[in-house]
Amino acid sequence: MHLISTSEIRDRGELDRLFKATDALRNPHISGIDPYYRARGKIMTIVKDEGSTRTRLSFEIAMKRLGGEAVVLELDTSSALKGESLADTMRSISEYSDVIVLRHSQRGAVASLSSLRVPIINAGDGDGEHPTQALTDVYTLQKELGGIDGLNILLAGDLKHSRTIHSLIRLLALYRGVRLVLVSPEDLRLPREYYDFLEEKGVACETETSLSRQLKGESPMAVYMTREQKERANRDCSDYPALGVREMGMLEKDCIVMHPLPRCEELPLALDEDPRCAVWKQVKNGMYVRMALLSNLFNHNCFLT
Ligand code: ASP
Ligand code: CP
Repeated sequence: MHLISTSEIRDRGELDRLFKATDALRNPHISGIDPYYRARGKIMTIVKDEGSTRTRLSFEIAMKRLGGEAVVLELDTSSALKGESLADTMRSISEYSDVIVLRHSQRGAVASLSSLRVPIINAGDGDGEHPTQALTDVYTLQKELGGIDGLNILLAGDLKHSRTIHSLIRLLALYRGVRLVLVSPEDLRLPREYYDFLEEKGVACETETSLSRQLKGESPMAVYMTREQKERANRDCSDYPALGVREMGMLEKDCIVMHPLPRCEELPLALDEDPRCAVWKQVKNGMYVRMALLSNLFNHNCFLT
């Protein structure tokens, strides 16, 4: 009922069904499915204590496009100011809402609410996970590259704190023959638990500190950049991996570049003009994937056929 971690998604079939529903909702003229009735009469509450542009708005607009309603509560304007616990705040919200979307600055905050009787969706919890971004990313990889089996994917940046990467890794492990190249400064390496997970799932991976050194060797099919999570670690960022014009020139012509946004210096705006840059497609896909997820939730866990 909840979506807290991508570890809850057990097989590729679930992803295939979600992506099929995503396609159907994005192309109603072909599928004949009218999105507007999929969440009619339902109310979503989005709760947050951290900034958000895409997750907040794509959920809110997805809900409206499905005929439902969405309201937003910023925790710093709630009775948390009077010392109310997160548990009491969320329990109250659950009395009014049909689904809750929570973005929280603390890892584990969403999981701590799993006894709520209303579905709760993790919209990013500290340096934990961001499952709906990862679903968007896998959908984008699939759309842009035609499939994920056998792909060589480079994940770069703050792998220690990037919750989108943490969630994405778990989904990529559901595909066959995926190989990961993990590029980060030493102190921002992927946490041990994810290495253990990759080993357990038999996913080949390589660890590197220099992006250009790695690209000189072999070119991946997808490069996924992430920003340094400065709100979670204060460090000298001179060794942070960046994809500049030179590195872009080292990529194959059919490689794609992704980034969950927001971005800083690691992916210059000028590269948006390059046809390999899939960042804005990710942004749009996020809304459709969330529409499919919500539609499924409100229609008896039955994906569109
Ligand atoms: N927007 C993504 C997140 O909330 C990525 C980021 O903030 O760097 O995790
Ligand atoms: N990708 C993403 O989660 O963006 P926001 O932090 O702006 O929601």
